[in-house]
Amino acid sequence: MTSNVLPIPAPGTIAHACNPTTPGWFAVASRSEWPAAGQVKSIHWMGRRWAFFQTERGQLGLLPPTCPHMGADMTVRGKVVGDTLQCPFHGFQFDASGACRKAGNSNPACGTWNMEAPLLHRDGDVLFAWNEGHNGTKAHWTPVTAAAGDWTPWTFHAWNDRTITPFNVAENGVDLLHFSELHGFHDARMEAPPKVQQHLMKLSYSAYRKGRIGRHAGVHVTFDIQQQGLGLALVVTTVQELGLRSRHLIMTTPTVDGRSTLRVASSVDRAFRARNVHALATLVPKRLLTQLVQAAVHKGFTQEVAEDLPIWENRDMSVTPKPAAGDGPVMLYRKWAAALNQPPS
Ligand code: FES
Ligand SMILES: [Fe+2]
Repeated sequence: MTSNVLPIPAPGTIAHACNPTTPGWFAVASRSEWPAAGQVKSIHWMGRRWAFFQTERGQLGLLPPTCPHMGADMTVRGKVVGDTLQCPFHGFQFDASGACRKAGNSNPACGTWNMEAPLLHRDGDVLFAWNEGHNGTKAHWTPVTAAAGDWTPWTFHAWNDRTITPFNVAENGVDLLHFSELHGFHDARMEAPPKVQQHLMKLSYSAYRKGRIGRHAGVHVTFDIQQQGLGLALVVTTVQELGLRSRHLIMTTPTVDGRSTLRVASSVDRAFRARNVHALATLVPKRLLTQLVQAAVHKGFTQEVAEDLPIWENRDMSVTPKPAAGDGPVMLYRKWAAALNQPPS
């Protein structure tokens, strides 16, 4: 699919491309939020509540919280037993696929009580689940968080239950003009034309940032963005003067009452040269230096997101954008995002 065959949404429909029914992978939780092995917890994902559990053997499960037998809430005194979540009321058990595996009293009806569980995809420290949307769209792609390089483990940060949407957050990545005004970059420019292909929107741009970093009075930064559906972006950033690459995840997940949790993550490519970072950096062991660089990169990244958040939280998404010089491919993004709500061709 190319940009010129994307249907143009009817007036007034674009703002609703942000609804929690858009098909795609949406983060459920990063590792620090997972229930411990043998535990269950109640969470919100895509506007609904779920029982999120981890079996003793480390399998993660996400099931509707309400037991189909007589409606008990399985997050309240439910137990993980073997590979299943066991209801506290009469003891029926459900595995991570939602299948009723064993009746507490061997009732043969149990086999018809299977629950619908979303498809899960664990990517290292992040658990994603597939949202089928209005059309019952089945998973037809896989989230990508990898990039060529020798990367450190992810460092995460989350803003929980904010009045933001995946649509609004993802648009930030294509909105070139705001990089100067809001984030203090100069001369933001596209490096390659944006490409859209089904669930992917890819673009590269560069910008200059003034301010002393190591021995440099300012740095040129390039951003390679892969927006994957509305719930996940992988951004690889290169600071040219430092020869430093960092990798970021931006994951927005609707939770409840029109709110979303925004999780971000950062990691750095160990292949940078210490003396490019700072004249004295060669005196610091590389492992420690890498940790310091990662902490600084993550701090800078989360600060930039924190600059965006109040804008996103108070923005009227029903306003149709008026074209201005220097805008990024916002309208192309909006057409692509709206098309995500249609069944795959
Ligand atoms: S309500 Fe869950 S087993 Fe009866
Ligand atoms: Fe931004």
